[in-house]
Amino acid sequence: MSELIEIAAQKIAAASHPVSFSGAGLSAESGIDTFRQSDNATDTEKSALWSSFDPAKLASQEGFSADPGMVIDWYNWRRKTLADAVPNLAHETLGRQRGWVHITQNVDNLLEAGGAYEEDVLHLHGSILTDRCNGECGHKEVVDLHNPKGLRDCPQCGRRMRPSVVWFGESLPTIALNRATVEVEKADLLLVVGTSAQVYPAAGLIPFAIESNTDVIIVNTDRSLKPDENIIEILGKAGDVLPQLFKYCF
Ligand code: OAD
Repeated sequence: MSELIEIAAQKIAAASHPVSFSGAGLSAESGIDTFRQSDNATDTEKSALWSSFDPAKLASQEGFSADPGMVIDWYNWRRKTLADAVPNLAHETLGRQRGWVHITQNVDNLLEAGGAYEEDVLHLHGSILTDRCNGECGHKEVVDLHNPKGLRDCPQCGRRMRPSVVWFGESLPTIALNRATVEVEKADLLLVVGTSAQVYPAAGLIPFAIESNTDVIIVNTDRSLKPDENIIEILGKAGDVLPQLFKYCF
């Protein structure tokens, strides 16, 4: 493993257009639950959200129509966990790099809290830090994570307010997805951290990079992709592995 880390660290130091692509595992060591439990689940992953909760009821337009109060309460429960969370070593390591673009599926703000510039972070699945109107009027509100508001109507058009996250069956934010695609196309290195790579179209960025012969480095506690000659896979916790991978970058 130390040999792989050395090879990966050299590639990271030499990259001229490096891009990271992260998922829930990046924030796991900050106490934020992941979504899917892997076969070799660690204690952290045993609280994977989709093991205890039904995504169809909590992360879809249909679920919101059926029981909007339950959906809002669930997001507010997650917001209160995030309110007390701090960036871990992996967020801080990525956040300190300049010249990187960070594409993330995470709806938290821990990469930015770890030092990444807001304009360098592309949130493909939206943000839990704001609410938006469920209609078309475009009204948005910043959420107080410690004291989030309950179910309410949009003050502008009267439809329901909802979290500004992407639910199953909804399109990804066009600007973020387009820019992510362009950045991966230009990238000479894609560092993939803590994603099960199961949710598309976001996960499609990985095969897109592989097909373009871009170096891909995966950091995950568990195997997440089929082996490929363009992939270096490092098994371990992001907070342990990333500081080692960036040892030539400080
Ligand atoms: P998942 O929960 O599907 O996957 C998390 C991955 O992180 C797993 O492969 C774990 O093995 C790995 N992992 C756990 N702890 C880790 C650690 N400390 N260091 C490194 N890896 C670790 O999360 P995502 O792939 O992000 O979408 O899920 C994608 C989307 O599915 C989410 O954005 C969310 C969910 O439904 C929406 O809400 C739209």
